[in-house]
Amino acid sequence: MERNYVIIGNPENRRVDFFQRALISQGMGPATVLSYEEVFKRKLKINNLIKDGSVIRVESPGENFNVEREIIALGHEAGDISGEKARRLEYEKGRIFYPTQWYHGFTRLQEAIWKVNSSVRGLVWMNYPLDILTMFNKPICQQLLASKLVRVPRSLREVSGYEDLRCKMESHSLKRVFVKLFCSSSASGICAYQYEPKSNREILISTMEISPRDGEFVFYNSLKIKRYTEKIKIKVILDWICSQGAQVEAWIPKESTNGYVFDLRVLAVGEKAAHRVPRLSKSPMTNLHLGNKRGDIKSLGLTDDEINEALMEAEKAAAVFAGSHYKGIDVLISSESHKPYIVDINAFGDLLPGIAYDGMDTYTYEIVKLTNVKVINCE
Ligand SMILES: Nc1ncnc2c1ncn2[C@@H]1O[C@H](COP(=O)(O)OP(=O)(O)O)[C@@H](O)[C@H]1O
Ligand SMILES: [Mg+2]
Repeated sequence: MERNYVIIGNPENRRVDFFQRALISQGMGPATVLSYEEVFKRKLKINNLIKDGSVIRVESPGENFNVEREIIALGHEAGDISGEKARRLEYEKGRIFYPTQWYHGFTRLQEAIWKVNSSVRGLVWMNYPLDILTMFNKPICQQLLASKLVRVPRSLREVSGYEDLRCKMESHSLKRVFVKLFCSSSASGICAYQYEPKSNREILISTMEISPRDGEFVFYNSLKIKRYTEKIKIKVILDWICSQGAQVEAWIPKESTNGYVFDLRVLAVGEKAAHRVPRLSKSPMTNLHLGNKRGDIKSLGLTDDEINEALMEAEKAAAVFAGSHYKGIDVLISSESHKPYIVDINAFGDLLPGIAYDGMDTYTYEIVKLTNVKVINCE
């Protein structure tokens, strides 16, 4: 059945282009694109573009600073800066601007998109706005997955800052943890922290950088992995992440091959594990945009049982978000227990150019499988 596709996204972004190409490859017409900039200018309304049975694909709002500014402005109630000031922010490469306020604005944006549910029948969401919000909130997402008995690393709750983290690590006998900015993605605001209470030695590995400005610190994300050993800097970074909201969890030692640690990015489509990409790294972060290598799943030294178990765990995680047609899941396999752990689930996790499953790229596969999607009708 030919469906009416609507993409809400940044039209200049390659994600939109890839999806349009996939539609055309299946003999379908291109999707109507509603840009986030238009949404903010209220020039075009989503209700005018959808009809009964439309498919809505909500794309990442990332990589467009005008949109980032508007999202922060929309979240002004969170109280860091006014909407006016947010609209005047100047672009700075890698700067992490007001994450709590950004998430507040992102929530308001997704809720506004979700409201179209009530205006038409049989709407199909490729990714459901309320799922997107949950997936973007790492502590809530990990708690939800744990409550559904998906294997996730053990979390430390309500860590207020550096000193509290060290106390909690000691009392839980954890020497290595991941501290993640609650709404981060693309390794932004992700720290691998190791602390040995007996010797008081500590090390923090992260893509984050800090810079003093006007008596405060500003925080950046870079493509380089840095190793911090000075208490002052470690404390500034961890205190800031915790002040915004942090997901703190056990650092699971990853399986390795030829001197690289690895995890798997698994794309689940309609709750089934489809595309899978081993991500090989010399650092604790495996994100591919950091220059890490893609591997071949057959040459990792994993047994078939280990691979199957990892894929099954990913499917279990995918089933928790049954209202979304696809999600990109980060699965790592512990080098100690050989068991899979779900560390991240991404609402926009299908940007895997050049990776095929059943002979199809991620976007084409999602379109072909859409007939299996559950139709959400919230009347
Ligand atoms: N608990 C963990 N133990 C070991 N490695 C982890 C853990 N959590 C995350 N990582 C590594 O750090 C990377 C970034 O973390 P992730 O939660 O996926 O954040 P992001 O949303 O920025 O991708 C992951 O790709 C993974 O390899
Ligand atoms: Mg990830």
